[in-house]
Amino acid sequence: MNKEDPNKAALQATKVKIDPVVDSETRIKRSRKNKPIVSSELKLDLKDNPYTIYIGRNLIHDSKHLLSYCHGDHILIVTNDLVGPLYLKSLKASLMAKKVHHFIIPDGEIHKSQSSYFKLLDYLIENNFRRNDTLIALGGGVIGDLSGFVAASFQRGMNYLQMPTSLLAQVDSSVGGKTAINHPLGKNLIGAFYQPLAVVIDILTLRTLPDREYFSGLGEIIKYALLGEQEIEQILIDQLPAILNRDEKCLEALIYLSCQKKATIVAKDEKEKGERALLNLGHTFAHALETLTDYKRYLHGEAVAIGILMALHLSVEKQLISADLLQRYKQLIESLHLPTMIDHFIDPERFLEAMKKDKKNQSDSYRLVLVNKKGCLLVDESNNQLITSTIEHFILKSS
Ligand SMILES: NC(=O)c1ccc[n+]([C@@H]2O[C@H](COP(=O)([O-])OP(=O)(O)OC[C@H]3O[C@@H](n4cnc5c(N)ncnc54)[C@H](O)[C@@H]3O)[C@@H](O)[C@H]2O)c1
Repeated sequence: MNKEDPNKAALQATKVKIDPVVDSETRIKRSRKNKPIVSSELKLDLKDNPYTIYIGRNLIHDSKHLLSYCHGDHILIVTNDLVGPLYLKSLKASLMAKKVHHFIIPDGEIHKSQSSYFKLLDYLIENNFRRNDTLIALGGGVIGDLSGFVAASFQRGMNYLQMPTSLLAQVDSSVGGKTAINHPLGKNLIGAFYQPLAVVIDILTLRTLPDREYFSGLGEIIKYALLGEQEIEQILIDQLPAILNRDEKCLEALIYLSCQKKATIVAKDEKEKGERALLNLGHTFAHALETLTDYKRYLHGEAVAIGILMALHLSVEKQLISADLLQRYKQLIESLHLPTMIDHFIDPERFLEAMKKDKKNQSDSYRLVLVNKKGCLLVDESNNQLITSTIEHFILKSS
């Protein structure tokens, strides 16, 4: 594994130079040499399960490094029918020294389901996997969450490695050990906290990520800015053309800073007894929106972007912040090609009902993350009228 000076490279990358505009085909042709380079390493310092997040290029080809995390005789790579054809062959070639199996799930949030979960468990049992074998999640947050929960529950916990390939998974879902599947009545209602052996982020996999998914990943990055990561806000605003152009140095910096923020919070509060809940900024609104639209209308990061604006709006209504901050983030979200309003057919009462299912709620109130002048705070909001008027404010008027 070739190492640049870890972390220094990522920090330098925050002072990115903007590349001239390039099309996606040129981007893909640019790096064909497959030389693995780890540009930064972050430690997630958990007492019982510390692990490293590696960020770099061509890490999918880094056979020696990957094999050092593959315990047991058998490896199961879990991926989907979109990511598999792009990266499975390369990953399998890197792991040739072991007996490598793969399991393909159909693409889509709808497959983060009980049915996929049991199919995967059946596969592990029928193929005589053992607890010390290794499962690899190769894909976006859907594959990561589902595989992580399978790894958590197979024989009470098997080894697993996160190899996130979407921007959203690289900045958020692959880090911190939250694993889950959805229930028809709500998102992520069945799951466990279960940490991977490591997270290996190969930023070059982002070259094949569709634009809409790319922007969706930015929805989660915005959250870290409001959580006090000012450098992220600065990059998002100052380097907007580079971000829209998917400048890789800029992306590397955003991924590094996001993972660093998440790792710091998770290290202090692994099981979400306090501070970690702040990472749910915008998510109670977002999950309700996704559930109400059957996970088909909004991508997760799109729903989060709207949810963040709803949390900011509520914060303005409660006089915790001035309207300027809301306006600044509305502009930022718009400029990152993310939605800022909810479809006209959404019924506010059903929205509120869906919010009730959120597992973070306490009895009759809604547990929400709001924003004040110092940062973010947890609030148990029992004023239904205030929440309803916020929902109504965001529903597009039909023409
Ligand atoms: N565990 C956590 O802490 C956590 C945090 C945030 C979100 N999540 C979960 O993550 C999920 C959303 O993650 P997501 O946005 O990655 O969704 P996703 O897994 O559905 O991936 C998005 C899309 O991009 C495709 N894709 C992924 N990588 C690609 C690549 N390199 N090239 C081409 N296509 C690629 C996928 O096939 C899919 O179509 C949600 O289920 C959400 O609940 C979990």
